[in-house]
Amino acid sequence: MKKNIIITGANGFLGSFYTEFLLKKNRIIALDKKFTNLKKFKTNKNLDLIYCDLSKEKSLNKTISIIKKKKIQIDGLINNAAIDAIPNKGKLKLNQKNWIAEVNVSLFASILLCYEIGNIMKKKKEGSIINIGSDLSVIAPNQKIYKTSFKNYIKPPSYSIIKHGTVGMTKYFASLFASDLIKVNMISPGPIFNNNPKNLVKELKKIIPMQRLGLKEDLKSAINFLMDNENNYITGQNIVIDGGRTII
Ligand SMILES: NC(=O)c1ccc[n+]([C@@H]2O[C@H](COP(=O)([O-])OP(=O)(O)OC[C@H]3O[C@@H](n4cnc5c(N)ncnc54)[C@H](O)[C@@H]3O)[C@@H](O)[C@H]2O)c1
Repeated sequence: MKKNIIITGANGFLGSFYTEFLLKKNRIIALDKKFTNLKKFKTNKNLDLIYCDLSKEKSLNKTISIIKKKKIQIDGLINNAAIDAIPNKGKLKLNQKNWIAEVNVSLFASILLCYEIGNIMKKKKEGSIINIGSDLSVIAPNQKIYKTSFKNYIKPPSYSIIKHGTVGMTKYFASLFASDLIKVNMISPGPIFNNNPKNLVKELKKIIPMQRLGLKEDLKSAINFLMDNENNYITGQNIVIDGGRTII
């Protein structure tokens, strides 16, 4: 059955992958600040591109009202956007500006969308919300690993706090919407290969029991499964997709 699915950060490395494979059978409402990676689907009638600055409440509210005006049932929501998922060379700079921006994009935007879109889904008593976590939703970063490729780099605490917070957010909305038959779950990928530096890949392989980084394709089955109406009884869960990285 064709579904209407909202994806945040749809232009990003993983967001554009989710958009591309879900677009084959569904209508996608893609939210982002840029759409460079989605240009090739521009003529696809099943793709709606909506400019939304997820860090700004005004932009978010405008987007929600555009979605409501479409008067369509929303079947799925993937809260995928985040800031700075990829290590850079800079030193750790703790400042309120970055903290607020990161928390706004990953948590505030997600809670507002969970609530507002959940309320649309409620009417049909059906829907699936997937929040995107990370292996850092269950473990702390291994800072030594990054240092092999990015001198002075320290994974910021905000990333860990946000991803752990996403677990709480997922449980909160799963509980809030359980009686409306809306499922709210989370997937937590380990590092996904994206032409990362050779040294980093080598070090990561040593601590991943399956001895490889994840591939974008490794995330597809969990997304499909959680979006599928056949999943009627799994809610509030965090599915970790990491080749065993977090079990040792
Ligand atoms: N790439 C990985 O290896 C990996 C591993 C584990 C978890 N994750 C998680 O997967 C998700 C996607 O990661 P990615 O690697 O594709 O990141 P990415 O940086 O490629 O994509 C993030 C997207 O979010 C958008 N975005 C950021 N701020 C925004 C704002 N204010 N308004 C609108 N859009 C905004 C960006 O434009 C971008 O398109 C993130 O939640 C990340 O934490 C990624």
